[in-house]
Amino acid sequence: MTSVELSGVPQTLLWNLYHRAYEAGQPSPVLDDPKAIELVERIDHPFEETFGAVNPLLAQGQALRVRTFDDAVRDFLAAHPDGTVVTLAEGLETQFWRVDNGRATWLCVELPETAEVRRRLLPDEERRRTLARSALDLTWRDEVDPSRGVLVTAQGLLMYLRPPQVRQLIAGCAERFGGGALVFDAVPRWFSERTLRGDMRTQEGYTTPPMPWGLNAGELQNIRTAHPAIDDVRELPLPRGRGAYYGAVWPLLGKVPGLRNLRPTMTAIARFT
Ligand SMILES: C[S@@+](CC[C@H](N)C(=O)[O-])C[C@H]1O[C@@H](n2cnc3c(N)ncnc32)[C@H](O)[C@@H]1O
Repeated sequence: MTSVELSGVPQTLLWNLYHRAYEAGQPSPVLDDPKAIELVERIDHPFEETFGAVNPLLAQGQALRVRTFDDAVRDFLAAHPDGTVVTLAEGLETQFWRVDNGRATWLCVELPETAEVRRRLLPDEERRRTLARSALDLTWRDEVDPSRGVLVTAQGLLMYLRPPQVRQLIAGCAERFGGGALVFDAVPRWFSERTLRGDMRTQEGYTTPPMPWGLNAGELQNIRTAHPAIDDVRELPLPRGRGAYYGAVWPLLGKVPGLRNLRPTMTAIARFT
């Protein structure tokens, strides 16, 4: 067993891992992720005492969001099998083990305290390494070989940044990785505001850290104003899940303009010329 002590935003990676592993352990999971299940078994952390009992609906939603990111990476690797996938704020994501093609290069850019945990549990290997650096320190771009295509992912990161930082980070990717893309997720403004009021709390007393950046679905095209090289921004819908909510209600919410922001999360891709 390995002890993991994290707090604040880095601790949220444990919530994601816990929920992803829970869904992966269901009889007909929407995500196949044995590595996540293995990690939860290896980590000495009071998951349930910290976050409360798993809400199966949230766990499935988390896994479906992960599938959306996986599909975007698979599409990229199909077109650029020797390309580079840069995973900003990867936490203890196990995407490499789900989608790697045996040829691509993977670079994870993480805060030092999280990078230490990741390296301990998922040691670097020849084509996959972890850089201990804030994603806001754009010098990470110098570590990337752009010659065979670049896809940057930011899953569960941008909402924790301040709006000007989000803009600078997106612009920094667009400026350097022409022909590449950024896949990211966002929470709607009402959700962001609730976290800023500190009232996203579980019964066990876990409070979601503040998420200063909220983006409503109707504002997605504003992303294009961050840099002239951003030529296309579009939402990536979640794949259909099990049961009435993720099988019918969620897909419907995504299609009705007045209801789209009821969804607590949205995933999108910004492409660069
Ligand atoms: C919600 S977790 C997401 C982890 C992972 N992407 C996932 O979906 O499971 C938030 C992550 O953001 C990382 N993080 C926060 N601020 C960061 C920054 N400025 N640069 C890089 N990573 C950051 C934390 O260390 C943590 O791993």
